[in-house]
Amino acid sequence: DHLRHVESLSTLPSGAGKTPHLNAVILGDALASEENDLVFPSQEFSSQALVSSPAQYLEMYKKSILDPSGFWSEIASEFYWEKKWPQQQQVYTENLDVRKGDVKIEWFKGGMTNICYNALDRNIDAGNGDKIAMYWEGNELNHDGSLTYTQLLHKVCQLANYLKDIGVSKGDAVVIYLPMLMELPIAMLACARIGAIHSVVFAGFSADSLSQRIVDCKPKAVITCNAVRRGSKVIQLKDIVDAALVDSAKNGFSVGVVLNYENESAMTRECTKWTEGRDVWWQDTVPKYPTTCAVVWVDAEDPLFLLYTSGSTGKPKGVLHTTGGYMIYTATTFKYAFDYKSSDIYWCTADCGWITGHSYVTYGPLLNGATVVVFEGAPNYPNASRCWDIVDKYKVSLFYTAPTLVRSLMRDGDEFVTRYSRKSLRVLGSVGEPINPSAWRWFFNVVGDSRCPISDTWWQTETGGFMITPLPGAWPQKPGSATFPFFGVLPVIVDEKGTEIDGECSGYLCVKNSWPGAFRTLYGDHDRYETTYFKPFPGYYFTGDGCSRDKDGYHWLTGRVDDVINVSGHRIGTAEVESALVSHLQCAEAAVVGVEHEVKGQGIYAFITLVEGVPYSEELKKSLTLAVRKQIGAFAAPDKIHWAPGLPKTRSGKIMRRILRKIASRQLDELGDTSTLADPSVVDQLIALSDQ
Ligand code: WTA
Repeated sequence: DHLRHVESLSTLPSGAGKTPHLNAVILGDALASEENDLVFPSQEFSSQALVSSPAQYLEMYKKSILDPSGFWSEIASEFYWEKKWPQQQQVYTENLDVRKGDVKIEWFKGGMTNICYNALDRNIDAGNGDKIAMYWEGNELNHDGSLTYTQLLHKVCQLANYLKDIGVSKGDAVVIYLPMLMELPIAMLACARIGAIHSVVFAGFSADSLSQRIVDCKPKAVITCNAVRRGSKVIQLKDIVDAALVDSAKNGFSVGVVLNYENESAMTRECTKWTEGRDVWWQDTVPKYPTTCAVVWVDAEDPLFLLYTSGSTGKPKGVLHTTGGYMIYTATTFKYAFDYKSSDIYWCTADCGWITGHSYVTYGPLLNGATVVVFEGAPNYPNASRCWDIVDKYKVSLFYTAPTLVRSLMRDGDEFVTRYSRKSLRVLGSVGEPINPSAWRWFFNVVGDSRCPISDTWWQTETGGFMITPLPGAWPQKPGSATFPFFGVLPVIVDEKGTEIDGECSGYLCVKNSWPGAFRTLYGDHDRYETTYFKPFPGYYFTGDGCSRDKDGYHWLTGRVDDVINVSGHRIGTAEVESALVSHLQCAEAAVVGVEHEVKGQGIYAFITLVEGVPYSEELKKSLTLAVRKQIGAFAAPDKIHWAPGLPKTRSGKIMRRILRKIASRQLDELGDTSTLADPSVVDQLIALSDQ
């Protein structure tokens, strides 16, 4: 019964490995029915893939669902355990049903291990000490560096020894507020080595946000750097930390130690404001410590990290991940979703301040002994070719990014891409939001030369790793669909009442079982954990996302259900409308929000960024509306089109819809914190264009 959602795979038209990627090439941006548009992996790709056919996937998936303990303990045995988990029939304990008592998820409890040891020492022992663990590419061209696995281990041990020396021990929290220097993953791994809990705060958050997180988790130390260059800007991070610490002290918590990395290329130490007795220079101190450091073995269920993420209401939630299950899950998902080979060079454009940077810049790839590119800068600096310059420079074979970046590069024009070879690329990846089919096609055809499968990975901070994702050599893709569940995951679609629905359907995406990488609680607030995720649909983990399943069993994520607009009783996903708008050849990017509407309940308000050089016109508004009418229906036609030279995005590229909703509803005095925007001036531009 559990297998019914994937069995359709066995009835897909055969042709994997035979048909080239013709469909995607020919259809281009035509408004064809996406669902019938199968894009097959090439014979060459499939034949070398870890999973090379639907049948092979089905066999593995079946085992993972029918015998999770067997499936996952076999994989877990490839890792080092100081003490193996007690040999039980069942390696996990789960209760996802609030009606049956407290929600509880545990994997491999009683086993003792260490994720830093498994990522570094284990790979070095296997003979990979001289392999490059990280290439570092600075913001400026020709500013770079690298570390082998052995060099990385030495740096991690020195910092771990320093942290121990200042009194950080197992179970203590450490806040890390760093940009994409190699010191960021080094700091995460150093914490993990000694059993400390890291809480990385994205270095684009304001002092207020940082302070809030510090007060919540009460760290023994904060690790930061004085400043960073991103694009043409210099951001003085230590000033932000200083302000955050003043604020946190007012709120009852004082931080004893601030370890500062001197990021010389952005700011010298002479210019850095200093608090004697609290502030320490990394370079003066850490290198004096020994390059070996004994591992602190921790229980599989001991906490590894906290990562704050925003909910629809209230203060940020501290998502807590533990060690053993997260380790196995991130390693395994990385390996299969990118079809990882030891010769691959992998680059993920995400910042370690987000879950993607935790699971797929740091832990997943390093656990596999991969070579990872860490990039400090902005993807369009000094120009829109930067990504491809980096791809060619390091011979990147696996490139993982977000749809928003794909769309903005698409807007800049193909020449920036085609000027570079990109022949090293093998697999492309997408994460963070649904990728609209036209961006998918551009990514596929232009960036990947119609050669590289795209892994559109659906997952969340809460899930720790990929949940629904293509296995690139296994089955044909459909542009815009995240395809099928990863091993061990049982996604279900439920209706309003929480009843599972089958076949071609659309509803709320839930998960029916636990998987090793699942978060275990919200830090200090297990009640909120249960209320937010397990009470809406009792018996299930509720993802907060809408999803539909097509006749072939493919999953299509339709966006957060909190972003669903209800127009005259019709439920419309903002992502659906955006995808329709962006399919218009003159539309580069679209963001849709709901606004109050007298008659319809809610109206659809669309912010539109046009392709470079296209002028605004009333006629264009009409044809954009027509594109939506054509793809979805008249009920989904936007009520208002608002020209947007740029959209308010965080530095990680997420569109801040909160701000768009306020602009759309003219609540201009309630715009809130705009400090994390990549370019706060777009807000003023948008306001100025309100009545155009
Ligand atoms: C969305 C990021 C569609 C989704 C890893 C989810 C996606 C939220 C995809 C989690 C995807 C992420 N297709 N939607 N491939 N990936 N999302 O916690 O709405 O920052 O609930 O984790 O992003 O965002 P988070």
